[in-house]
Amino acid sequence: MTRLSVNINKIALLRNSRGGNLPDLVQVAKDCEEFGAEGITVHPRPDERHIRYADVPELKAIVTTEFNIEGNPTPEFMNLVLKNKPHQATLVPDAPGALTSDNGWDTITHEAFLKEIIAELKDAGIRVSLFLNPEEKYVEGAKKVGADRIEFYTGPYAHQFNFDKEQAVAPHRRCALLANETGLGINAGHDLNLFNLRFYKENVPGLAEVSIGHALISDALYYGLRNAIQMYLRQLR
Ligand code: PXP
Repeated sequence: MTRLSVNINKIALLRNSRGGNLPDLVQVAKDCEEFGAEGITVHPRPDERHIRYADVPELKAIVTTEFNIEGNPTPEFMNLVLKNKPHQATLVPDAPGALTSDNGWDTITHEAFLKEIIAELKDAGIRVSLFLNPEEKYVEGAKKVGADRIEFYTGPYAHQFNFDKEQAVAPHRRCALLANETGLGINAGHDLNLFNLRFYKENVPGLAEVSIGHALISDALYYGLRNAIQMYLRQLR
């Protein structure tokens, strides 16, 4: 079974655009769960342009499925995560001003750093996933530094899917087989949508979780949040 974790960054972005509490992020997270989401993901960035650091304890208090916090493991991020103890921390090497995550870890160059950070998180009982481009050497590196899971960066897959889906999914499938062999769990995220999700799931063995924000929230404008979540779940079943 592949779990659907809904990334609610876009809800926070909408709220922040007017300064009040509409939409109410906490209520939306509760509703996502009621509508079938199997996890809630947030990606606080240093400029707090969507999720604010102060949102995290409020969400931690109400999420009953799986709480996943993504981000670059700066000292501030580590503090936030260690204080709030989500079920999972997804480490992403994104630059402070990045529009969105667009690259995975080089688990070889950053071996020592990742080993230390991952050990700290795991000691606190937090599962650790590493955002990765689908390259075998980085999967092997992720195992070496002690990650529990990897999250494949699916942005390039989503782009290439439109003209050559077999080629697009091939490196993900290869790396998934390697991850399965080495005992790493597999997540995926970025630009997954109602068109490319089912094919991804069918071709990536052992896909444990997808986290989806942008397309799902955009679809919710047309279909409503309950329907949008159900439609994504249907792609995974
Ligand atoms: N995974 C990571 C690491 C991300 O940074 C994001 C975007 O915040 C996602 C998944 C979800 O991507 P999207 O919003 O395109 O569904």
